[in-house]
Amino acid sequence: MKGLILAGGHGTRLRPLTFTGNKHMIPIANEPMLFYGLRHLASGGLREVGIVLGDEHEGIEEAVGDGTPFGLKVTYIHQGAPKGLAHAVACAREFLADDPFVMYLGDNLLEEGTAPLVAQYRASPADAIIGVTPVEHPSSYGVVEMDGDAIVSIAEKPAQPKSNLALIGVYLFSPKIHPIIAGLAPSRRGELEITDAIWKLHQSGGRVAVRRVNGWWKDTGRPEDLLAANDLVLRSLPPERFRNEGTVGPRARLRGSVRIGPGSTVADGAEVEGPVVLGANVTVGAGAHIGPGVAVGDRCTLEGGTVHRSILMEGAEIRGPVTVTDSILGRAARVTSRRTRPEALTCVVGDATVIELGPDS
Ligand code: TTP
Repeated sequence: MKGLILAGGHGTRLRPLTFTGNKHMIPIANEPMLFYGLRHLASGGLREVGIVLGDEHEGIEEAVGDGTPFGLKVTYIHQGAPKGLAHAVACAREFLADDPFVMYLGDNLLEEGTAPLVAQYRASPADAIIGVTPVEHPSSYGVVEMDGDAIVSIAEKPAQPKSNLALIGVYLFSPKIHPIIAGLAPSRRGELEITDAIWKLHQSGGRVAVRRVNGWWKDTGRPEDLLAANDLVLRSLPPERFRNEGTVGPRARLRGSVRIGPGSTVADGAEVEGPVVLGANVTVGAGAHIGPGVAVGDRCTLEGGTVHRSILMEGAEIRGPVTVTDSILGRAARVTSRRTRPEALTCVVGDATVIELGPDS
């Protein structure tokens, strides 16, 4: 069995703001989001994985290489323009050969990984197994309507959804999907839709099974989803990920699970409440309060200020009396305050961008 992870699509776009670099390289708990998918495929027992790349793929090949650090053998597949999820499979036709494969959308995160999906296939082979979960707004997703265990309909982003069961972006296919994809026509939005292929597979007598996933799942298309995913991942990291390899002042206060990377310092008088991960060479000054639910990238500086449930990318800075909550600070972004009283701020700040709160008026 092979793995296929999709990291093409609409490039760096993250609504409403863009960060430089490919969106699949945005850090969640200080690791590129794509790494979670790769690990999920590895822990599902897969060894050969194809990564589908779009036109903008800066950083992905450099970070993943040949896959050895993940226990994988990685092949890169060029898709170019995002012509749809089924188009991405068609681009990978040669790599996939006639093996069954797990397809994983690179901007998805799910607690249970892919091992249960692979186990379900081994126990009861099917031509497709689709992961589903109930969602609040099904019209933004592929939606499957069920009658007991039987599939009644599958529709992509229906205006009037027939159920609340959304396809989560993790699928398993037999090679029977390929001739069906080869015969697909583009949808109204001009894409080759995987949901159309699954529906046709079902209608032509292929066995399509459904897997209701356990635990949390996040599609990280929007900043609020990234923050939710960051929080969920931080809360589910194993204890060995919270090592202290830095320097902590004797009068600094640390509570809960806190990771302190090499070269990082937490000064006397600083407070860190886990789950929190601090990367390498991070400086946490005396008055700073961090956590819970915060990921701080390498070389960040926090002098004073309070940060809750946020992502700080590499080299970001927070200085002065400001309380930053539910926020994303891009690489080398800076939030500073010269006020006397703490100011509350919720923001998504692009790379190398500065927010400065001037002195009290
Ligand atoms: P999305 O663009 O989110 O796919 P979608 O069909 O859910 O579209 P929408 O934005 O309208 O909700 O992409 C899902 C993942 O698949 C993401 O990691 C990018 C990747 N992808 C490709 O690799 N190639 C493609 O052609 C497309 C459409 C997506």
